[in-house]
Amino acid sequence: SKHHQFLQELPKCEHHLHIEGSLSPSLLFRLAKVNNIALPDSSIDSSFASIEALEARYERFTSLNDFLHYYFIGMSVLINASDFESLAYEYFTRAHKDGVHHAEIFFDPQAHTERGIEYKTVVTGLVAAQVRAERDFGLTSKLILCFLRHLSAGDADVSYEKAVALGHFSDGTLAGIGMDSSEVGFPPEIFREVYDKAYAAGIRRTAHAGEEGDSTYISRALDICRTERIDHGIRLVDDEALLKRVAKNKTLVTMCPLSNVRLRCVTKVAELPIRKFLDEGVRFSINSDDPAYFGGYILDNYCAVQDAFSLSFKDWKFIAEGAVEGSWCDDGRKEALL
Ligand code: ADE
Ligand code: ZN
Repeated sequence: SKHHQFLQELPKCEHHLHIEGSLSPSLLFRLAKVNNIALPDSSIDSSFASIEALEARYERFTSLNDFLHYYFIGMSVLINASDFESLAYEYFTRAHKDGVHHAEIFFDPQAHTERGIEYKTVVTGLVAAQVRAERDFGLTSKLILCFLRHLSAGDADVSYEKAVALGHFSDGTLAGIGMDSSEVGFPPEIFREVYDKAYAAGIRRTAHAGEEGDSTYISRALDICRTERIDHGIRLVDDEALLKRVAKNKTLVTMCPLSNVRLRCVTKVAELPIRKFLDEGVRFSINSDDPAYFGGYILDNYCAVQDAFSLSFKDWKFIAEGAVEGSWCDDGRKEALL
């Protein structure tokens, strides 16, 4: 449609994309074969019987944890730096087609080091893809190191110190830290110490909060972990004072509409507080989260929002400018993006 042409051409920034979540079932099966990785036996989980069966299973997630079970199995096929490079370059190719000019990408180093893949292998592959994407498409990108919140604070610290020791925060390889995986029962303050260290070192901080967890996960991320962004943040609507504070401080909320529907945080996109955020001046971006698992890349998410809310040109201008202003790139790049 006319709108969707406009949305394709609208310059976009993506701030909430787990690179491991862009692993399609077809690449998953291909890498399992070449890397000789055993997937769950299809007599135990028939979802692994074929690409089609796995795709069908992805349409029936019941919760964040139900999704995460498949997400962690999926990434077990990633072994070599070249696997991470292929994965990321495929994502950049698609993002470029969808009109993404700048992307800030999450990755889960602990999910790889836990199974014997070195941190350095992961980063080497991702950086190689970033360099090619900038050269081939002019698409700039940053990496955000996430902590798995179902693992301990000590494990998070080991991951953080590894990146510090390699100079990856100071040399610009990493734009900041985040936290992801199971939310309920794993509140932000568990990771207070590592967030304090990052704050003291001038390293940027974000956290998934208010996806499945209530609005206190958001206030605790902001107050205790001093995060500068909130990933998802849909439960902000349950605390009017907090919402007004987020608007006033121009804290970027990285929303993922199709993800929220697939993981049953809402029953439909129209239930999301997009109109409320626009009316209250909350700065937010629209993102794909785990596009290979949730049935859509970034443009599909933009289109779903348009279909649900019939936004005006002025609304889209506010969203697009806010996404640039909330990016973690230097002022020169921001100016070029605006
Ligand atoms: N890891 C990948 N996607 C995630 C999400 N939507 N929430 C929490 N952890 C994740
Ligand atoms: Zn996420």
